[in-house]
Amino acid sequence: MKSGATVILGLVLGGLVACCQANAFSWGWCPTVEVMNDFNITAYFGRWFEILRFENTEFEEGYKCIHADYSARDDGLVNVVNFATHENNGVSRSLEGFAFAPNPKAPAKLEMNLGSSYFIGDFWVLDTDYENFAMVHSCDNYFFFNYQLNWLLSRTQTLETGDVQDALREFEDAGIYVTSFIESDQTGCSEF
Ligand SMILES: *[C@@H]1O[C@H](CO)[C@@H](O)[C@H](O)[C@H]1NC(C)=O
Repeated sequence: MKSGATVILGLVLGGLVACCQANAFSWGWCPTVEVMNDFNITAYFGRWFEILRFENTEFEEGYKCIHADYSARDDGLVNVVNFATHENNGVSRSLEGFAFAPNPKAPAKLEMNLGSSYFIGDFWVLDTDYENFAMVHSCDNYFFFNYQLNWLLSRTQTLETGDVQDALREFEDAGIYVTSFIESDQTGCSEF
């Protein structure tokens, strides 16, 4: 009995430490979000630029000009190359990985793998018109907390203010804390 309680307390404290270090845990479970049900990955292929991201997106911290290319692989997976330029030294990096939809009936619920030291997790497309914007959500439950990342992507390096506001409203309606978004720097980038 006593040791059981100690284990649970340890888990709670561990969760709290993770909470404040990562600065991104929210109380409670992941929000129940609706993804696009008729998602067409082929129409999603191509290049997307990051317009907004959650401030706790550790693997992108300190980087600007973030964009990613999605394409078909021979084995049916989605090839993903994530490009970024370091804000301070201007050095560019590219992370190559893959994505796939484990459940063919939920094609918008992608799992993304950019390598374990960068990002492995849900990559759920909440909404996109394929030609301008895409809203992506990722969330994991940890005990009493949830850890989530969200992105607003655009086909170009900018997105009209009205489109940004519409997306923020849609994120908020989905139960996502829009105050955690930061603007992704797409200025001073080399030509693409
Ligand atoms: C998916 O998108 C591709 C590329 O735009 C298009 O050719 C194809 O017809 C679409 N598939 C469906 C089922 O709408």
